[in-house]
Amino acid sequence: LLSSEMLLLLLLLLGGPTSFYLKQISTFANNTWAQNQGSGWLDDLQIHGWESDSGTAIFLKPWSKGNFSDEEMTELEDLFRAYLIGFTREVQDRVNEFQLECEYSPVIWRESQ
Ligand SMILES: *[C@@H]1O[C@H](CO)[C@@H](O)[C@H](O)[C@H]1NC(C)=O
Ligand SMILES: *[C@@H]1O[C@H](CO)[C@@H](O)[C@H](O)[C@H]1NC(C)=O
Repeated sequence: LLSSEMLLLLLLLLGGPTSFYLKQISTFANNTWAQNQGSGWLDDLQIHGWESDSGTAIFLKPWSKGNFSDEEMTELEDLFRAYLIGFTREVQDRVNEFQLECEYSPVIWRESQ
């Protein structure tokens, strides 16, 4: 029986279709409080997390660092930390421009009852 990880590694070795992407979820409670959650995904498998308090990556698999050295990973974490601090500040500074209107339709609501 193949685990999903072994299957993914096999796909990688065979050069099969694989995507890597990063997810960012930023929560802004008010003008001063914000939290950033981050994760790294290889197709459907999460291989990275993000410790938002310390601003460090969490490696969920022994091979999550890929070919990066510890030093390179530290540099990447520095980059992400700087980006997240800048992003948070930009959003908080422009909070009035970013206000979204949430449409409420009583007609649609009634129809679904
Ligand atoms: C902002 O939101 C945080 C988290 O919900 C809360 O703890 C804090 O008291 C709030 N601050 C103000 C000024 O409303
Ligand atoms: C990653 O490391 C492996 C084994 O050391 C090597 O064969 C491969 O070429 C490296 N890949 C990249 C993109 O550096």
